[in-house]
Amino acid sequence: MFSNTLLNEVKLSAHSSKEGLLEVIKTTEATIAIIGMGYVGLPLALCVAKIGFQVIGIDVNSERVSQLNAGQSYINDVSSKDLEPLVSEGKIKASTDLHLLQQADVIIICVPTPLTKNRDPDISYIRQAAESIAANMRPGQLITLESTTYPGTTEEVLLPILSQSGLQVGQDFFIAHSPERVDPGNARYTTHNTNKVVGGYTPNCQEVAAAFYRKSILDIISVSSPGCAEMVKVFENTFRAVNIALVNELALLCDKMGLNVWEVVEAASTKPFGMLTFWPGPGVGGHCIPIDPFYLTWKAREYNFHTRFIELAGEINSYMPQFVREKVMRALGKQGKPLYHSKVLMLGIAYKRDLGDWRQSPGLDLFNLLLNDEVEIHYNDPHVPEMQDVKGKTHFSTPLTPESLSSSDCVIIVTDHSAYNYHEIVEYSPIIVDTRNACAQILDQREKIILL
Ligand SMILES: NC(=O)c1ccc[n+]([C@@H]2O[C@H](COP(=O)([O-])OP(=O)(O)OC[C@H]3O[C@@H](n4cnc5c(N)ncnc54)[C@H](O)[C@@H]3O)[C@@H](O)[C@H]2O)c1
Repeated sequence: MFSNTLLNEVKLSAHSSKEGLLEVIKTTEATIAIIGMGYVGLPLALCVAKIGFQVIGIDVNSERVSQLNAGQSYINDVSSKDLEPLVSEGKIKASTDLHLLQQADVIIICVPTPLTKNRDPDISYIRQAAESIAANMRPGQLITLESTTYPGTTEEVLLPILSQSGLQVGQDFFIAHSPERVDPGNARYTTHNTNKVVGGYTPNCQEVAAAFYRKSILDIISVSSPGCAEMVKVFENTFRAVNIALVNELALLCDKMGLNVWEVVEAASTKPFGMLTFWPGPGVGGHCIPIDPFYLTWKAREYNFHTRFIELAGEINSYMPQFVREKVMRALGKQGKPLYHSKVLMLGIAYKRDLGDWRQSPGLDLFNLLLNDEVEIHYNDPHVPEMQDVKGKTHFSTPLTPESLSSSDCVIIVTDHSAYNYHEIVEYSPIIVDTRNACAQILDQREKIILL
């Protein structure tokens, strides 16, 4: 779609040099284009528009573009109340029209970086975005990549594509990697107050990129190269994946030893030094932890290096839904019921408390496993009205009522949403497999509750 109206509305920058770019950044007269208006791009758009920059949100998804231009948010962490005034004032405009990139002083890439079916990095979205930029480049632009990716992407993938424009990096245009660290659902740390790592390709690139991010983000951490910035981000997510796997392994062992892993971790967390608390759970989910470490594993192979911690962590974390299935089977077995053809209600399909994102969720893995066992499975999630199973069949969130709980053979708490009334859940369910220790405060009828 080519939006002539929008093209005319957003002014063309007159500058074409580093100095000119720094000036429009300083005066907040710069136009910022964000490619990919998802969980990362949309909060960033608000953060930058709030301080006065003009933002053009570019997305291939025309439905999202229409919603944005109507001031409606589709992301949990962004309220329509915050978005709407910025859209009305014309500070945020959205479009599918890539020609608008010509008008941007700063272009930020926030497109997805999933894994392929064979669990290799799929950087096709980055390539597409880069090709769109190259076709619309002009001198005096800063291009930053925020998508999480393997070290080397900015230099080995983005730069060669952008250089096809004939422009010279560090002189005519500037590139940097600055990984997004958004933590969905975290009200304390937002895009604005989370330190931002910035790695420019040349000293000029670094200067311009740091100057831009410093305008809207409290603290900028400058690193020496885009590769370093890329490695910082994958390391952060690997750190979480490995520590979660460690505590999940502890849960598997505690189960065998008849120990309560939650009690163990809680007591260990009282140590005032040298301890960082991670909790076990039904597995890992979302766009980061199950994916990003494998970007590094893939890249490491180029150096004949095996990232053993990452592989092991992936193995343990991805086993957790199967372990929950085993717990459900044992819980039913104790009631004299087989798993096959039993009636199970899963509470929560989102990968994290109070979110509606069920991508890569361990709950989805568990749902698919139980479907395969011919279990009569239903789910409830106040944040996920519908979702698709592995075969693409749509399932709808079932109402959570005393009847839906009591008519199930087993209830599994997969996501500990704060909207749930755990007293009622325990009261009406025949038996509960609690993978989050969500019922910790319920002291009655503990015999019904089976912990991870
Ligand atoms: N979601 C998170 O919690 C999180 C946190 C930190 C970093 N990241 C990283 O940020 C990146 C984006 O993640 P996300 O969660 O925002 O993804 P998302 O799927 O929510 O949003 C991506 C958007 O990009 C659009 N898009 C895809 N290709 C495009 C193209 N060629 N041109 C224009 N638009 C295009 C999609 O339509 C979608 O709206 C990923 O690399 C991810 O790993 C995500």
